[in-house]
Amino acid sequence: MVAERRTVLQWGVAATLGLALPGATAVVASRRAHRRPQQAALPASAPGAAFRMPLPIPAVLRPTSTTGGVDRYELRQVEGRQQVVPDGPATTVWGYDGVFPGPTIEVRRGRAAVVTHHNRLPVPTVVHLHGGKVSAEADGYPVDFVLPEADQGADREMAAMARLGVAGLATGTRAYVYANDQPAATLWYHDHRMSFTGPQVYRGLAGFYIVRDDVEDALSLPRGARDIPLMITDRTFAEDNSLRYPSVDPLLLEPGVTVRAKHGWLGDTNVVNGVAWPFHEVDAALYRLRVCNASNARPYMLKLDPPPPGGGGLVQIGSDVGLLSRPIHFDTITISPGERYDLLVDFSAWRPGTQVVLKNNFEQGPKADLVRFDIVRRATDDARIPDTLAPDQGPSPPSPDRVGDRRFNFTVGPEGTGLPALINFRAFDLRRIDARPTLGTTEVWNVTADANHPVHLHMAHFRILSRDGKPPAPQDTGWKDTVFVHNSAVKLAVAFTGHRGKTVFHCHNLEHGDNGMMANIEVV
Ligand code: C2O
Ligand code: CU
Repeated sequence: MVAERRTVLQWGVAATLGLALPGATAVVASRRAHRRPQQAALPASAPGAAFRMPLPIPAVLRPTSTTGGVDRYELRQVEGRQQVVPDGPATTVWGYDGVFPGPTIEVRRGRAAVVTHHNRLPVPTVVHLHGGKVSAEADGYPVDFVLPEADQGADREMAAMARLGVAGLATGTRAYVYANDQPAATLWYHDHRMSFTGPQVYRGLAGFYIVRDDVEDALSLPRGARDIPLMITDRTFAEDNSLRYPSVDPLLLEPGVTVRAKHGWLGDTNVVNGVAWPFHEVDAALYRLRVCNASNARPYMLKLDPPPPGGGGLVQIGSDVGLLSRPIHFDTITISPGERYDLLVDFSAWRPGTQVVLKNNFEQGPKADLVRFDIVRRATDDARIPDTLAPDQGPSPPSPDRVGDRRFNFTVGPEGTGLPALINFRAFDLRRIDARPTLGTTEVWNVTADANHPVHLHMAHFRILSRDGKPPAPQDTGWKDTVFVHNSAVKLAVAFTGHRGKTVFHCHNLEHGDNGMMANIEVV
């Protein structure tokens, strides 16, 4: 009974999101006042729960072998228990090596990695390297299932679906081969099982994949403990601290969610690197924060509170798939699900002893808090914010006046209509190819969307040429793999410079993607 009411409550919050985005805080505030009695029943959401656990830094995975010019890694996909909220029992997660986020994989540009995954979960899995320029076989096409190790083989339905995939069915294990032939960048790997990506990522199947190179090494950027990946997510917890998600079937055998809402599943608690509202002690020095929004559906407007004197405290040095040519200073920056922003923050700009909170400006009160940085000591610092970063290593983009080669319209329709999430008014079909670009070409794509759609392409990177016919925003600079399209139109220059073969593009609002907002690309 209590649990049901809470589910309804969550979707009530979801329904306000469209209004909350441009800053309609009055609406959010009145909802909050209305919700206060119920909120008190949520232990993890109590304001006093904030900033009581230290920020975990995911361990860097050690290769099992480095011979033959290839680094080999092994990961087990397995259930684990970890303390996500400060009070009460640990939370059961599904993690790579049993932890959420999974271990960080660090690679060098041009040096191949083979990551062998073992599926010790009770359901099929698929691994996608988000932002990777990988072959179609290693891309994690949504029906390239890895069946559980315990399975004897596929049932009829599973086998039939997998025949429409790229790499075929595997039982127990699959080795994903990544060439890493791309500039230094913050990528991430996560589950991509057809129709179940939302619940499987929500349970914890996500980790960082960092590409390093000589261009980045030559810069005076922060290193070691001052180079921090931040995986930002939102989750909702039941009384026993288990993760709440509205799956039709908690065993994740039948797809679907019990409640339809336009904006996808939004949690009430911010979880950073697998811990609710963590804190982190820092030196008064320059830090690199590699922020990845791994939430299912929630966009965040990041800001620092208090801001540094003079403002501009969030210094963007990298986009989704690489360093910018020069840094850009921001007071706030919006990050939608799937996107990454590589940021520098100079904690010497505040007085030692200051506590600086990274916040979500779309929310108020504890729901706005992400992670608190406690500036605990003065320190020496060799790092500097470079004036120039990396040369643009992609093909030169076409002129923004060029007419589009393709048009894609992402819609979920009005709230409450129960419409599926569609691209060009069609749901995903494994058999239908929706775009057949030629390898080596750069296409202009016109993408329009109603509310809350992070549009993501596999295998190809793009630049944003325009937004609503106007020049792109400063945060649109650089090469990207995901772009937030929210009641607007964007024009993209998509470079098909990687590999031939079949892959997908889709909405990274994971509930939308699972519900049909996905399409096929075949690079020929
Ligand atoms: Cu990060 Cu197709 O996804
Ligand atoms: Cu969407």
